Order: sequence, then structure tokens, then C-alpha cells
Amino acid sequence: MRTVLYPGTFDPITIGHIDLVHRAVKMFDKVIIAIASSEKKGPLFSLEKRVELAREACKGIKGVEVEGFDVLVSTLARKRNAVVLRGLRAVSDFEYEFQLANMNRAIDPNFETVFLTPSDHLSYISSSLVREIASLDGDVSKFVPDVVNEALKAHFT
Ligand code: COA
Repeated sequence: MRTVLYPGTFDPITIGHIDLVHRAVKMFDKVIIAIASSEKKGPLFSLEKRVELAREACKGIKGVEVEGFDVLVSTLARKRNAVVLRGLRAVSDFEYEFQLANMNRAIDPNFETVFLTPSDHLSYISSSLVREIASLDGDVSKFVPDVVNEALKAHFT
């Protein structure tokens, strides 16, 4: 079975992430959205909430699982016998992704990363901008699944 692990903080999951998931399910038997606890970043939503939102947002997409994690991504990938998927939105993402992929391979020589790009009309969407816009009472409904939009509204009111 070809499994791909899609790790990230997903604080919160956006339609850019979902676009990547739709692309990945066409190529892999199973797509695991792996949500890093990322405690040090002081995320807006708890790990449990981010997992719940991602599950709701991906309901109905066949072959998708969501799990939280608090270990090295290379450890989880080995455990799940998976390659890792990362999204590249722009050239500016590349430098960090290149470092991450190589560092992970230095940790585990069998570690492989695949990259996908979202539709170009989604390439400017980022979780950090979504958080900022929502915190200033802006409308983010175009950028996130409905369930996330509702959660952001509830958080900031
Ligand atoms: N609060 C909440 N979210 C934050 C944040 C903060 N203070 N600072 C950054 N973020 C979010 C941003 O929203 C950003 O998403 P965006 O680009 O859509 O705006 C995202 O985190 C950027 O963080 P980054 O670390 O670049 O990537 P990521 O969150 O997509 O994924 C992991 C990073 C999970 C893949 C990586 O940290 C990882 O592998 N962690 C597991 C531990 C590990 O193996 N470490 C060794 C790697 S070699």
C-alpha cells in the first residue's frame, strides 16, 4: 500500500492544504494528515481542536486519515511506512523545505519527501495570514473550510 504522510502545524487547515490532499489521494492509497503538536509555536488551536477541524474538513475525501503527533516526523514516517508530502507554494518556501528534507534524510537515509504545488489561485493562502485576518475581524471564509471559519469566529468573539 502506498502511504503518504502530510505533516504540518495546520493552525488552522486551509483550502490550500485541502487542495493538496485532493491531489495526493489520486496518487496514494492512503493520505495521513499528521498534525504536529508544535507547542513551542503557541498555536491558536489546541492539537485536539486542529485534529478535529482537519477531520471535519476532510470528511468525504476517501483514503484520508488525520492524526496528531509529538515525535520526529522521520520516526512517524518510518512507523507508517510512508513517504512525506510537503506543499510548495512559492520559491520562498523552497529553501526551508530543502533543508527540512535533507535534515530528515540525514536522520533516516530511507526518508523520502515528495512535493506538490497547490492551484496557483491558492498559492498565497497561509495559516498565519488567515489567523491574522480573523483576529482583526476580517472575513476568511474564502480561504478556509466552513468548519474552520466557524471555529475562528467562535475563537475571536
Ligand atoms: N503559532 C501557530 N502557528 C505557527 C506559529 C505560531 N507561533 N508560527 C508558525 N506557525 C505555523 C504557520 O502558520 C505556518 O503555516 P503557514 O506557512 O501556512 O502560515 C507554519 O506553522 C510554518 O511552520 P513550519 O515549521 O515552517 O512548517 P509546518 O508547520 O508546515 O510544519 C513540521 C513543520 C511539522 C513539518 C516540522 O516542524 C516537523 O517536522 N516537526 C516535527 C519534529 C521534527 O521532526 N523536527 C525535525 C525536523 S528535521
